[in-house]
Amino acid sequence: MSTAEAALTKRPDASFLRARLGSLLAVVPLGVWTVAHLWHNLAAFRGAAAWQAEVTTHSHPIAFFASSLVALLPLGLHTIWGIGRILSVRPNNTQYTFYGNLKYALQRLSAIGVLGFLGAHIWKAFLDPRLNRGGPEPFADIAREMHHHGPTLVVYILGVLGVAYHLANGLQTFSMGWGVVSSRRALKKLEAVVLLTFVILLAMGWGAIYALWSAGA
Ligand code: HEM
Repeated sequence: MSTAEAALTKRPDASFLRARLGSLLAVVPLGVWTVAHLWHNLAAFRGAAAWQAEVTTHSHPIAFFASSLVALLPLGLHTIWGIGRILSVRPNNTQYTFYGNLKYALQRLSAIGVLGFLGAHIWKAFLDPRLNRGGPEPFADIAREMHHHGPTLVVYILGVLGVAYHLANGLQTFSMGWGVVSSRRALKKLEAVVLLTFVILLAMGWGAIYALWSAGA
């Protein structure tokens, strides 16, 4: 067998499979879960009972455990993968000022912001109430914090901005990485879809923040 034939029949190496897995987990289930989470939080417009039913109540402890696992395990794995990617590259934005290079750097910058936001959000809204206060975060508490504690409001506004950008732009790199789009025309269309996705995600997230902020007055 020639060297070229051997290269073609070679099984994909572990780093390639890790890269594919890290990329896939970012969209399914992490990206899907994130969209659902933002959607559920819009129930804040319908008041405390609706928000608690949609966001913090589960039909059974097993359902709670399963949904937490579906969100947190891929997030943990994607975060480890993402930190590895951040550490393995050096930005080249001073040499190349293309739009694509800027987006590449912003994807990493937003990842660092999202990491900080999710650390605080998961602790304050998910773990701390359940571990130290005997149950999920009540609507009245999060709404009051949102209205009367400036830093909380700012962190949520910026955190949601980071998540919306990171996920929308991530869908673009995902589609390119997996070969979903390749032609120049399809890439142009994808750019528009990504922009629309960013605006929709931002409207959902900021909408939920606004509803909580209003309820906390
Ligand atoms: C709500 C949470 C998150 C979601 C929904 C999410 C989603 C995504 C998606 C869809 C991609 C594109 C994957 C691809 O190009 O194949 C991506 C890329 C990336 N994510 Fe996340 N992510 C989240 C949190 C994080 C966190 C906490 C980090 C940690 C630092 C991180 C680091 C990265 C990095 C560095 C990339 C770029 C990888 C590359 O192109 O080489 N992400 N993310």
